[in-house]
Amino acid sequence: MHQIGVKALTEVEVIILYFVLSSQIFRMFVHMIRARKILLIGKLKGCSILAIAEELPDNGKIFACAEEPYLGVNSQEAFDYSSDGKKISMRVGPVADTLEALHAEDEHFDIVFIDADQRNAVQYYSFVMDNHLLSMDAVICVENTLMKGQVYLENVSDENSGLSLIRRSPVPPDAVIESKMEVVKDDVFWGCSRRRILERLRLDGRVAYVTGGGQGIGRAFAHALGEAGAKVAVVDLVLAKAEAVACELSLKGIKSLALAADVSKPEDVQRMVDAIVARWGTVHIACNNAGINLNSASEETSLEEWDKTFNVNLRGLFLCCQAAGRIMLNQGYGKIINTASMASLIVPHPQKQLAYNASKAGVVKLTQTLGAEWIDRGVKVNCISPGIVDTPLIRSRELRPLVRRWLADIPAGRLAQPTDLQAAVVYLASEASDYMTGHNLVIEGGQSLW
Ligand SMILES: NC(=O)c1ccc[n+]([C@@H]2O[C@H](COP(=O)([O-])OP(=O)(O)OC[C@H]3O[C@@H](n4cnc5c(N)ncnc54)[C@H](O)[C@@H]3O)[C@@H](O)[C@H]2O)c1
Repeated sequence: MHQIGVKALTEVEVIILYFVLSSQIFRMFVHMIRARKILLIGKLKGCSILAIAEELPDNGKIFACAEEPYLGVNSQEAFDYSSDGKKISMRVGPVADTLEALHAEDEHFDIVFIDADQRNAVQYYSFVMDNHLLSMDAVICVENTLMKGQVYLENVSDENSGLSLIRRSPVPPDAVIESKMEVVKDDVFWGCSRRRILERLRLDGRVAYVTGGGQGIGRAFAHALGEAGAKVAVVDLVLAKAEAVACELSLKGIKSLALAADVSKPEDVQRMVDAIVARWGTVHIACNNAGINLNSASEETSLEEWDKTFNVNLRGLFLCCQAAGRIMLNQGYGKIINTASMASLIVPHPQKQLAYNASKAGVVKLTQTLGAEWIDRGVKVNCISPGIVDTPLIRSRELRPLVRRWLADIPAGRLAQPTDLQAAVVYLASEASDYMTGHNLVIEGGQSLW
């Protein structure tokens, strides 16, 4: 295995904080670094351990190791009375042995709490560091490192404590790397532009809009882009729907804007883009998602149905690509993500939807054409083709009864949920997909393969 000297790998930042240790502070740490696995070494009270467990996600885990059991309160049996107790695994016995065992089990942790009052606290700290029991970006919290303040204060009460936070950071560029193997220090090692892969998926500072954002897939896209850091304009034919989703976003601390626009009308589309530019200065991410689905046998499809479908699904999408594209070409950067459909590849059945299928095939060709035409000016154009997604679009009187029939055609055995599409939109909106253009990303649980 590739071994790198740990001392070289770790840059230690120590912040001494003058506060009394409490489970609330621990909970906040757990929340802040989104910890999933925690190692506790020392005498944490049972109620504190439970408080931390409550903050963990359902698949989170705490390993609490102590030399001796504590009069019942820290016992596994007691924890099991709580619904969060299942996240706690007590390891009673010599701490050094427990640490060896966790190392042998290849465990690693997002937070390690060490009680500095423990005998051998320094050895525990060294063992954790030297044996990679810390995940990347993880934190060690060492309690009572100020020795109750006795080092520098007179007449201190026993309540005074101190907490050292030690963050494991990536290898600094000038680190001396001790390794038996050659370390290739390229972008793969450091991260492209020194940004690691999850950072490259972030959208901080980006301005996005989502048409048809008032419900269904568009709503899920708006949340995903906002969660990844973008400001999001939620655009919909129905202002009240856009406002409701914008309100959801702002409750999560995401900067949002609600706009009404009918994407089939050039003046509405221009007004939408102008309003976003007036508010946030530009547009980086355009999600052209609004679409409608009408059903009729082809021999009976009216020109009205055909035009209505094409006006929203293809003409509207073109107008949005053009209006947002002009801004993006001007600034030399942009990401356009169009919503096509699996219906661009196969003929979904038994529903009859000639105009829809043809319009979505048009979306793919439009995406490919713009993708090729604009990439050398920094604008990437891709589309997502969902399979059958459980949204209001398929809850019409004609379509709802077909769900059982569709399920038989889907290898995944279920309809898609809007959340199944969220990672794709973030990826296509991020710098991580910068070499991708004109692509049709199909997400359909395997349906187009059967
Ligand atoms: N649901 C599916 O199974 C499925 C599958 C593949 C592709 N799609 C596509 O995904 C996109 C979103 O679908 P959904 O399932 O979330 O639909 P939906 O009907 O649940 O939501 C569409 C939203 O778009 C808005 N809208 C409709 N016409 C508009 C217009 N002219 N201008 C602005 N907004 C308008 C509606 O008010 C609605 O809020 C559509 O393009 C659809 O064709 C859906």
